[in-house]
Amino acid sequence: MVTMKRRTLVGVAGAAVLALALSACGGDGGSGSGGEDDRIVIGFVAVGPEGGWRAANEQNIKDTFTAEAGYELKYAPATNLDQQSQIAAFTSFVDEGVDVILLSATEATGWEASLRRAQEADIPVILVDRGIEPDDPSLYVTRVAPDNVEVAKAVANWAVSEFPDGAKYFTLEGPPGVGVVNERNNGWDSVIGSRPEFVKVGAQTANWSAEEAKSVFETVLRANNNDIQLVFAQNDEMGLGAALAVEEAGLVPGQDVKIATIDGTRPALEALADGRLSFVAEYNPLFGETLVEVVRKALAGEPVESYIVVPSETFDSPEAAAEALPNRKF
Ligand code: AHR
Repeated sequence: MVTMKRRTLVGVAGAAVLALALSACGGDGGSGSGGEDDRIVIGFVAVGPEGGWRAANEQNIKDTFTAEAGYELKYAPATNLDQQSQIAAFTSFVDEGVDVILLSATEATGWEASLRRAQEADIPVILVDRGIEPDDPSLYVTRVAPDNVEVAKAVANWAVSEFPDGAKYFTLEGPPGVGVVNERNNGWDSVIGSRPEFVKVGAQTANWSAEEAKSVFETVLRANNNDIQLVFAQNDEMGLGAALAVEEAGLVPGQDVKIATIDGTRPALEALADGRLSFVAEYNPLFGETLVEVVRKALAGEPVESYIVVPSETFDSPEAAAEALPNRKF
C-alpha cells in the first residue's frame, strides 16, 4: 500500500509556494494582480449528504482548499445522489473553464463523454474516492482513495481467523452501480470465495443506511431462524443497523452474530468498543492534503500515478477501538 505521508508534506509546501508565486507574479496564467482571480479554481462534483464518511471526506476537502490557501472551491453536491445532476455540474465547470475538476461519482458508469469534454478543454480531472467503470486512466489524472479491494480483504481475513470452522454470513451492500461496492465484493470474495465452510446466505443493498439495514437484516434473521453468525456490512451505518436487528431478534451482537464494517467513523469505533460490532476496517476519508499535491502536480504538468492509495488501518477489538477513539478525527 503506497503511503503519501512523506510526499504529502512536500505537497503542502509545494502548493503554498505555488500559490505565493502565482500571487506575487500576478496570477496563474490569468490576468489577475494578486486578487481573487489569482486563485486556483477547483470544481468539486460531489456526492453530498450520504452519511458520516461522506460528511468527513467532503468537509476535509472544503477545509483544505480554502481561499487562504490560494483556492476557490466550487462545491456542487448531487441532487438526491442523482448522476444527471452531477453530469450537469461537471459540464458547467468545463464550460466555466475551472482549473481542475474533482469528481466523486454517484454512479461508476456513464462518465466517458464528460471526461472527454474536460480533456478537450485541457481541464485535469481527479477522481475522489469513487472509480469509474470501465476504468480508463487516460480519461483522468488519477484516482485518490483507499484500496477497497485490500480493505475488504482485511475484513475477510479477519472473518477467517474469527471463524476457523466457517460461518453462515450475509452481506449488506451499498447501492447497486456504485464502483466501491463491486471492489469490496471482489476483495471479500477473493478470500472467502474459496472457502466452502463460509456459507453465503445472501446479499442485499441497504443503500448505506442504518434504518434500511435494520429492516433488511430483521427479515433475513427471521427467514433463517436466526441461524446467521456473521455480517459483512460494506459501511458503518449498515453494520450499526444490523446490530439493532440482532438485538430486536433477542440475540446479542458480537456474540450470537458478529458484524464487520468498513469506514471507521466514530459511531462504529464506539460500537466496537462496546462489543456491538466485532471488526472495523477504516476507509480513510481524510486525504485533502494528498489532493493538494495531486492538484499541484497536475497543473504543473508533472506525472502522477493513476491510482494514489490512501493508507487506512483496521480495528479488531474493543481495546483497539478504545485506544484509538480519543485521537479520531471523524
Ligand atoms: O465511497 C465510499 C463509501 O460511500 C463509504 O464507505 C460509505 O459510507 C459512503 O457512503
